[in-house]
Amino acid sequence: MILVTGATGTVGRPLVRALRDRGAAVRALVRDTGGLPAEWDDRVHPVIADLNDAGSLAPALDGIDAVYLLTPVDPEAAQQARTVIDAAAKAGRPRVVLQAATGVGRRTSHVRFFEAHAAGLDHVRASGLPWTVLAPNGFLQNFLALAPSLRSGTLALPTGKAAVSYVDARDVGEAAAEVLTTGGHDGRIYELTGPEALTHEEIAGLIGAVLGREIIYRATTPGRARAALLDAGLDEWRASGLVELYGMYAAGEAATVTEEIPRLLGRPARSLTAFLTEHAPALRATPPTSQPPTSQERPA
Ligand SMILES: NC(=O)c1ccc[n+]([C@@H]2O[C@H](COP(=O)([O-])OP(=O)(O)OC[C@H]3O[C@@H](n4cnc5c(N)ncnc54)[C@H](OP(=O)(O)O)[C@@H]3O)[C@@H](O)[C@H]2O)c1
Repeated sequence: MILVTGATGTVGRPLVRALRDRGAAVRALVRDTGGLPAEWDDRVHPVIADLNDAGSLAPALDGIDAVYLLTPVDPEAAQQARTVIDAAAKAGRPRVVLQAATGVGRRTSHVRFFEAHAAGLDHVRASGLPWTVLAPNGFLQNFLALAPSLRSGTLALPTGKAAVSYVDARDVGEAAAEVLTTGGHDGRIYELTGPEALTHEEIAGLIGAVLGREIIYRATTPGRARAALLDAGLDEWRASGLVELYGMYAAGEAATVTEEIPRLLGRPARSLTAFLTEHAPALRATPPTSQPPTSQERPA
């Protein structure tokens, strides 16, 4: 039995789907059972728990062989990761597959969203549990959330001229399913990227080609980006965290392309062009708004 935290999220959904398709028994950690994904059949067993509530985690972890530990973008996420690992250590010592983000264990730029990943890695190393880390780059799915602001014809981000090897979150979920259902991954950190690193100018050009109109990349400043995010209603923690993330990208720290997804899945990673083509109707149909992105689920 494999426990998936974040099971209803961007990575969790394709992960649960991939595990189910492999015939694995899945326990999906959810905060409530209202509105569960319709595709979950009787091989997916929802369990109600909250990452902030240690007491709720013991039954969720009881009898499992492995846990996919994904924490949300939340100021409490570091403690949540430690709480799950402590509960796992008491519950039969399952394998822990920790989802982090690119650069975990080696990053130089500080990004507050990633503190939870570093804390989780330190804690799982100290726990004595068998562990593996998946460290994906920014998700291609972020561009769906940016669609409304693209209606102005501009992609404005404080990312300079650096390239980013964005990855499709479905590939992350499918790679996670491979790691969770096969052996030989203990103590490994897998950096998961898309098949190419593109500058945001190149990305704007590709989006424009799909939408059939010009999209111009404008390299804005961190201060302006932060002010715009605050104006749009983001809280201070998330707005500043996003600007830190953009800074990490601008420093060129997210440009490496790895072969981990082709190696794990036996096929190429999904590309931005394929993603944009697949989602062109949704991108075109998005109503205009002046709101900039409002969470980490936005390009950075
Ligand atoms: N976005 C990116 O580009 C990117 C790139 C690399 C790494 N990451 C990392 O990926 C993680 C986010 O993954 P994601 O995008 O798949 O997440 P997501 O779509 O935001 O989903 C978050 C999941 O966490 C659940 N959750 C939130 N608070 C919870 C709590 N207190 N107890 C139990 N479950 C809770 C949510 O459940 P509900 O349905 O109940 O809300 C949901 O299933 C973060 O660690 C982030 O740093 C993100």
